[in-house]
Amino acid sequence: MSSFPQYRPRRLRRTAALRNLVRETTLAPAQLVLPLFVREGKKLRKPVGSMPGVAQTSVDEMLRDAEAAAKAGVGGVILFGLPESKDATGTGAWAEKGAVQQAVRALKKELPGIVVITDVCMCEYTDHGHCGVLRDGEVDNDATLELLARSALSHARAGADIVAPSDMMDGRVQAIRSALDENGFSSTAILSYAAKYASAFYGPFREAAESTPRSGDRRGYQMDPGNADEALREVFADIEEGVDAIMVKPAGPYLDIVSRVKAETGYPVAAYQVSGEYAMICAAAERGWIDRERVVLESLLGIRRAGADFILTYFATEAAALLGN
Ligand code: PBG
Repeated sequence: MSSFPQYRPRRLRRTAALRNLVRETTLAPAQLVLPLFVREGKKLRKPVGSMPGVAQTSVDEMLRDAEAAAKAGVGGVILFGLPESKDATGTGAWAEKGAVQQAVRALKKELPGIVVITDVCMCEYTDHGHCGVLRDGEVDNDATLELLARSALSHARAGADIVAPSDMMDGRVQAIRSALDENGFSSTAILSYAAKYASAFYGPFREAAESTPRSGDRRGYQMDPGNADEALREVFADIEEGVDAIMVKPAGPYLDIVSRVKAETGYPVAAYQVSGEYAMICAAAERGWIDRERVVLESLLGIRRAGADFILTYFATEAAALLGN
């Protein structure tokens, strides 16, 4: 008779080789997507103060960042656009020669191996900074749908593999799906930011994308941080409308949502490690309070373990390099 304890979990932790053999979750460069902020012009690189290492760039400079990402094995990029001028209805969002549309074309030509995703939203293009058109001070859901569909279609025309609506209007997946199908883009996929919370963690992004609402906030359309069941209702509504993959955002503070969405839908799930999550890690590491490389990889592994198939993260290239190809 052996004595207590019979089960000794430490037996399989003794060496790296043993640990590698039984590791349940893996993190690979191909599961990472790098967000990029593009604007018109040439040779532009404007650093974002609250996101060290992140910059707004012109298309030519963006290509260099995308190339470095591709070289490190990063699976995809997601593009955000900064228009030359903004107006009340965000007409820059579907400009044939807009920064995003040009960036997509350039990426498809120069780096055909990397997945190109475009963020579909009005907030970077409207002068008031809201994610849709305003009527009586409120974002008009149904009037916004047509504009979102137009932008998504212009991204598909440029060659985007996936369009990703992040506006949180009701019915946008169906509106976008119909517009794509009617125009011969039935193969363009939709990744919806289905469970997108009204989060303070987006602060630094709004500096990067110049999209802070001039008045009010986004609580009238983004989700209340206290709600989890509602996230599932959002997700199932998008599934009924024909979505291909689902995003949860932010990632770190919402891992329970990532886990439930994966378990209850079986759909491909993406999680967005947002600007505030990025900034916090950078700031603490800069002060020497945490080990940057280890925290970066652990934060991403945790998101994968919760159930995310792929992760949108500003650390994509760095993490991919750390992981090796
Ligand atoms: C656009 C959009 C936002 C983010 C992604 N798409 C900002 C917002 O909703 O205010 C946030 C990304 C980040 O914080 O990294 N609607």
